Amino acid sequence: MKGVVLAGGLGSRLYPLTKVTNKHLLPVYNEPMIYYPIKTLVNAGINEILVVTGGNNAGDFLRLLENGKDFGLKHINYTYQQGEGGIAAALSLAEFFADRDKIVVILGDNIIEGNIKNAVDKFRRQQEGARILLKEVTDPERFGVPVFEKNKIIRVEEKPANPASHYAVIGIYMYDYRVFEFIRSLQPSQRGELEITDVNNFYIQEKKMEWDVLEGWWSDAGTFESLQYSSEMVARTGANKI
Ligand code: DAU
Repeated sequence: MKGVVLAGGLGSRLYPLTKVTNKHLLPVYNEPMIYYPIKTLVNAGINEILVVTGGNNAGDFLRLLENGKDFGLKHINYTYQQGEGGIAAALSLAEFFADRDKIVVILGDNIIEGNIKNAVDKFRRQQEGARILLKEVTDPERFGVPVFEKNKIIRVEEKPANPASHYAVIGIYMYDYRVFEFIRSLQPSQRGELEITDVNNFYIQEKKMEWDVLEGWWSDAGTFESLQYSSEMVARTGANKI
Protein backbone atom coordinates (compact mmCIF):
# COMPACT_ATOMS: atom_id res chain seq x y z
CA MET A 1 0.00 0.00 0.00
CA LYS A 2 1.32 3.44 -0.94
CA GLY A 3 0.50 6.90 0.43
CA VAL A 4 -0.23 10.18 -1.34
CA VAL A 5 -0.28 13.58 0.41
CA LEU A 6 -2.09 16.25 -1.61
CA ALA A 7 -0.52 19.63 -0.90
CA GLY A 8 -1.30 21.52 -4.09
CA GLY A 9 -3.85 24.28 -4.58
CA LEU A 10 -3.41 27.97 -3.91
CA GLY A 11 -4.72 28.26 -0.34
CA SER A 12 -6.76 31.28 -1.34
CA ARG A 13 -8.99 31.03 1.75
CA LEU A 14 -5.93 31.85 3.88
CA TYR A 15 -4.83 34.88 1.88
CA PRO A 16 -2.63 36.91 2.70
CA LEU A 17 -0.94 34.18 4.81
CA THR A 18 -0.49 32.27 1.55
CA LYS A 19 0.63 35.27 -0.52
CA VAL A 20 4.33 34.34 -0.29
CA THR A 21 4.29 30.81 1.02
CA ASN A 22 2.44 27.56 0.58
CA LYS A 23 -0.48 26.84 2.91
CA HIS A 24 0.95 23.46 3.95
CA LEU A 25 4.15 25.07 5.21
CA LEU A 26 2.28 27.29 7.68
CA PRO A 27 2.59 26.40 11.36
CA VAL A 28 0.00 24.34 13.18
CA TYR A 29 1.09 24.90 16.78
CA ASN A 30 4.70 23.68 16.80
CA GLU A 31 5.09 22.00 13.41
CA PRO A 32 4.53 22.81 9.73
CA MET A 33 1.06 21.70 8.58
CA ILE A 34 2.43 19.06 6.17
CA TYR A 35 4.10 17.13 9.02
CA TYR A 36 0.74 15.95 10.36
CA PRO A 37 -0.60 14.13 7.27
CA ILE A 38 2.80 12.56 6.63
CA LYS A 39 2.83 11.22 10.21
CA THR A 40 -0.71 9.92 9.75
CA LEU A 41 0.47 7.77 6.83
CA VAL A 42 3.70 6.66 8.53
CA ASN A 43 1.80 5.66 11.70
CA ALA A 44 -0.45 3.47 9.56
CA GLY A 45 2.60 1.56 8.34
CA ILE A 46 2.93 3.31 4.98
CA ASN A 47 6.47 4.18 4.00
CA GLU A 48 6.25 4.75 0.26
CA ILE A 49 4.93 8.30 0.04
CA LEU A 50 4.32 10.81 -2.76
CA VAL A 51 3.84 14.49 -1.93
CA VAL A 52 1.92 16.42 -4.59
CA THR A 53 2.87 20.07 -4.17
CA GLY A 54 1.82 23.13 -6.12
CA GLY A 55 1.40 26.87 -5.93
CA ASN A 56 3.99 29.03 -4.22
CA ASN A 57 7.35 27.90 -2.88
CA ALA A 58 7.02 24.26 -3.94
CA GLY A 59 10.81 23.93 -3.64
CA ASP A 60 10.56 24.61 0.09
CA PHE A 61 8.94 21.19 0.59
CA LEU A 62 12.19 19.59 -0.45
CA ARG A 63 14.20 21.82 1.90
CA LEU A 64 11.81 21.04 4.76
CA LEU A 65 11.15 17.33 4.28
CA GLU A 66 14.35 16.27 2.51
CA ASN A 67 14.25 12.50 2.17
CA GLY A 68 11.92 12.06 5.13
CA LYS A 69 14.42 11.07 7.79
CA ASP A 70 12.52 13.08 10.46
CA PHE A 71 9.64 10.65 9.87
CA GLY A 72 11.77 7.52 9.77
CA LEU A 73 11.55 7.33 5.98
CA LYS A 74 14.39 6.60 3.58
CA HIS A 75 12.87 8.45 0.64
CA ILE A 76 10.02 10.80 -0.31
CA ASN A 77 8.67 11.22 -3.85
CA TYR A 78 7.54 14.63 -5.07
CA THR A 79 5.48 15.95 -7.95
CA TYR A 80 4.04 19.35 -8.88
CA GLN A 81 0.44 20.32 -9.71
CA GLN A 82 0.08 23.31 -11.96
CA GLY A 83 -2.83 25.60 -11.09
CA GLU A 84 -5.72 24.63 -8.84
CA GLY A 85 -7.63 21.99 -10.80
CA GLY A 86 -9.08 20.31 -7.73
CA ILE A 87 -8.29 17.44 -5.40
CA ALA A 88 -8.99 14.76 -8.01
CA ALA A 89 -6.77 16.59 -10.53
CA ALA A 90 -3.94 16.60 -7.99
CA LEU A 91 -4.51 12.89 -7.34
CA SER A 92 -4.35 12.08 -11.06
CA LEU A 93 -0.64 12.98 -10.91
CA ALA A 94 -0.08 9.96 -8.64
CA GLU A 95 -1.02 7.32 -11.24
CA PHE A 96 2.54 6.48 -12.27
CA PHE A 97 3.67 6.35 -8.62
CA ALA A 98 0.74 4.09 -7.60
CA ASP A 99 1.54 1.61 -10.36
CA ARG A 100 -1.77 -0.30 -9.81
CA ASP A 101 -1.13 -0.68 -6.06
CA LYS A 102 -3.80 0.34 -3.52
CA ILE A 103 -3.32 3.88 -2.17
CA VAL A 104 -4.19 5.90 0.91
CA VAL A 105 -4.71 9.55 0.01
CA ILE A 106 -4.62 12.33 2.60
CA LEU A 107 -5.26 16.01 2.14
CA GLY A 108 -2.31 18.12 3.25
CA ASP A 109 -4.46 20.21 5.57
CA ASN A 110 -6.13 17.34 7.46
CA ILE A 111 -4.98 16.75 11.03
CA ILE A 112 -6.08 13.97 13.38
CA GLU A 113 -5.65 13.27 17.05
CA GLY A 114 -5.25 9.54 16.69
CA ASN A 115 -4.38 7.17 13.89
CA ILE A 116 -5.99 5.34 10.97
CA LYS A 117 -4.26 2.02 11.48
CA ASN A 118 -7.44 -0.05 11.92
CA ALA A 119 -9.10 1.36 8.82
CA VAL A 120 -5.96 0.91 6.72
CA ASP A 121 -5.59 -2.67 7.94
CA LYS A 122 -9.22 -3.32 6.96
CA PHE A 123 -8.52 -1.83 3.54
CA ARG A 124 -5.48 -4.09 3.14
CA ARG A 125 -7.88 -7.02 3.58
CA GLN A 126 -10.58 -5.46 1.34
CA GLN A 127 -10.36 -7.14 -2.07
CA GLU A 128 -11.25 -4.11 -4.16
CA GLY A 129 -13.02 -0.75 -4.13
CA ALA A 130 -12.61 2.18 -1.79
CA ARG A 131 -12.93 3.12 1.86
CA ILE A 132 -13.68 6.54 3.40
CA LEU A 133 -13.62 7.87 6.94
CA LEU A 134 -16.44 9.83 8.51
CA LYS A 135 -16.55 12.14 11.50
CA GLU A 136 -19.55 13.69 13.20
CA VAL A 137 -19.34 17.50 12.95
CA THR A 138 -21.42 20.55 13.85
CA ASP A 139 -20.88 22.23 10.46
CA PRO A 140 -21.34 19.53 7.80
CA GLU A 141 -22.18 22.12 5.13
CA ARG A 142 -18.43 22.88 4.89
CA PHE A 143 -17.58 19.35 3.76
CA GLY A 144 -18.51 16.32 1.70
CA VAL A 145 -21.57 14.86 3.48
CA PRO A 146 -22.75 11.23 3.23
CA VAL A 147 -26.42 10.51 2.55
CA PHE A 148 -27.53 7.33 4.31
CA GLU A 149 -30.28 4.83 3.57
CA LYS A 150 -30.40 2.70 6.72
CA ASN A 151 -26.66 2.21 7.30
CA LYS A 152 -25.67 2.29 3.63
CA ILE A 153 -24.18 5.41 2.06
CA ILE A 154 -26.12 6.05 -1.14
CA ARG A 155 -24.17 9.15 -2.21
CA VAL A 156 -21.93 11.94 -0.96
CA GLU A 157 -22.95 15.56 -1.45
CA GLU A 158 -20.25 18.23 -1.65
CA LYS A 159 -20.91 21.20 0.67
CA PRO A 160 -24.72 20.84 0.65
CA ALA A 161 -26.81 23.81 1.82
CA ASN A 162 -29.07 21.35 3.67
CA PRO A 163 -26.87 18.48 4.86
CA ALA A 164 -28.55 15.07 4.97
CA SER A 165 -26.47 13.92 7.96
CA HIS A 166 -24.18 15.29 10.67
CA TYR A 167 -21.16 13.53 9.23
CA ALA A 168 -18.27 14.89 7.19
CA VAL A 169 -16.30 12.74 4.77
CA ILE A 170 -12.84 13.57 6.04
CA GLY A 171 -9.87 14.08 3.73
CA ILE A 172 -8.45 10.56 4.03
CA TYR A 173 -9.44 8.24 1.20
CA MET A 174 -8.43 4.68 0.32
CA TYR A 175 -8.66 3.56 -3.30
CA ASP A 176 -7.83 0.65 -5.55
CA TYR A 177 -6.20 1.21 -8.96
CA ARG A 178 -9.53 2.04 -10.64
CA VAL A 179 -9.51 5.50 -9.09
CA PHE A 180 -7.46 6.82 -12.00
CA GLU A 181 -9.96 5.44 -14.51
CA PHE A 182 -12.77 7.25 -12.64
CA ILE A 183 -10.81 10.52 -12.49
CA ARG A 184 -10.34 10.44 -16.27
CA SER A 185 -14.12 10.48 -16.75
CA LEU A 186 -14.76 13.47 -14.43
CA GLN A 187 -16.04 16.87 -15.56
CA PRO A 188 -15.18 20.07 -13.62
CA SER A 189 -17.75 21.05 -10.99
CA GLN A 190 -19.42 24.46 -10.65
CA ARG A 191 -16.33 25.70 -8.78
CA GLY A 192 -14.24 24.61 -11.79
CA GLU A 193 -12.52 21.70 -10.02
CA LEU A 194 -12.35 17.93 -10.41
CA GLU A 195 -14.06 16.88 -7.19
CA ILE A 196 -12.99 13.98 -5.00
CA THR A 197 -16.65 13.63 -4.00
CA ASP A 198 -17.49 12.68 -7.61
CA VAL A 199 -14.80 9.99 -7.46
CA ASN A 200 -16.33 8.64 -4.24
CA ASN A 201 -19.76 8.60 -5.85
CA PHE A 202 -18.44 6.35 -8.65
CA TYR A 203 -17.40 3.76 -6.07
CA ILE A 204 -20.73 4.13 -4.23
CA GLN A 205 -22.70 3.57 -7.47
CA GLU A 206 -20.70 0.38 -8.05
CA LYS A 207 -21.39 -0.70 -4.44
CA LYS A 208 -17.66 -0.85 -3.79
CA MET A 209 -17.43 1.76 -1.02
CA GLU A 210 -16.82 0.89 2.65
CA TRP A 211 -16.59 3.33 5.53
CA ASP A 212 -15.46 3.74 9.13
CA VAL A 213 -16.00 6.44 11.73
CA LEU A 214 -12.75 8.07 12.87
CA GLU A 215 -12.01 8.11 16.58
CA GLY A 216 -10.51 11.22 18.23
CA TRP A 217 -10.74 14.76 16.93
CA TRP A 218 -10.23 15.69 13.28
CA SER A 219 -9.76 19.10 11.73
CA ASP A 220 -8.89 20.66 8.42
CA ALA A 221 -6.72 23.77 8.57
CA GLY A 222 -7.75 25.58 5.41
CA THR A 223 -9.59 28.56 6.92
CA PHE A 224 -8.51 31.05 9.58
CA GLU A 225 -10.92 29.49 12.08
CA SER A 226 -9.94 25.89 11.40
CA LEU A 227 -6.22 26.75 11.34
CA GLN A 228 -6.54 28.34 14.77
CA TYR A 229 -8.70 25.46 16.04
CA SER A 230 -6.14 22.91 14.82
CA SER A 231 -3.30 24.70 16.61
CA GLU A 232 -5.35 24.83 19.82
CA MET A 233 -6.22 21.14 19.65
CA VAL A 234 -2.63 20.10 18.95
CA ALA A 235 -1.44 22.25 21.87
CA ARG A 236 -4.11 20.80 24.17
CA THR A 237 -3.99 17.09 23.36
CA GLY A 238 -1.25 16.46 20.80
CA ALA A 239 -1.87 14.87 17.39
CA ASN A 240 -1.06 11.61 15.59
CA LYS A 241 -1.17 9.48 18.72
CA ILE A 242 -0.40 5.87 18.03
O1 DAU B 1 -11.17 18.38 4.57
C1 DAU B 1 -12.15 17.50 4.06
C2 DAU B 1 -12.86 18.09 2.88
O2 DAU B 1 -11.86 18.40 1.87
C3 DAU B 1 -13.90 17.13 2.31
O3 DAU B 1 -14.95 16.94 3.24
C4 DAU B 1 -14.48 17.65 1.01
O4 DAU B 1 -15.36 16.71 0.45
C5 DAU B 1 -13.35 17.92 0.00
O5 DAU B 1 -13.84 18.49 -1.20
C6 DAU B 1 -12.34 18.88 0.61
O6 DAU B 1 -12.97 20.14 0.77
P1 DAU B 1 -12.24 21.56 0.76
O7 DAU B 1 -13.04 22.51 -0.08
O8 DAU B 1 -12.02 21.96 2.17
O9 DAU B 1 -10.86 21.29 0.02
P2 DAU B 1 -9.73 22.36 -0.32
O10 DAU B 1 -10.02 22.99 -1.64
O11 DAU B 1 -9.52 23.26 0.87
O12 DAU B 1 -8.44 21.43 -0.48
C7 DAU B 1 -7.99 20.62 0.58
C8 DAU B 1 -6.60 20.13 0.28
O13 DAU B 1 -6.54 19.43 -0.97
C9 DAU B 1 -5.55 21.24 0.17
O14 DAU B 1 -5.02 21.52 1.45
C10 DAU B 1 -4.53 20.65 -0.79
C11 DAU B 1 -5.34 19.68 -1.67
N1 DAU B 1 -5.61 20.25 -3.02
C12 DAU B 1 -6.71 21.03 -3.23
C13 DAU B 1 -6.96 21.58 -4.48
C14 DAU B 1 -8.19 22.42 -4.74
C15 DAU B 1 -4.70 20.01 -4.03
O15 DAU B 1 -3.68 19.32 -3.81
N2 DAU B 1 -4.94 20.55 -5.27
C16 DAU B 1 -6.04 21.33 -5.54
O16 DAU B 1 -6.20 21.78 -6.70
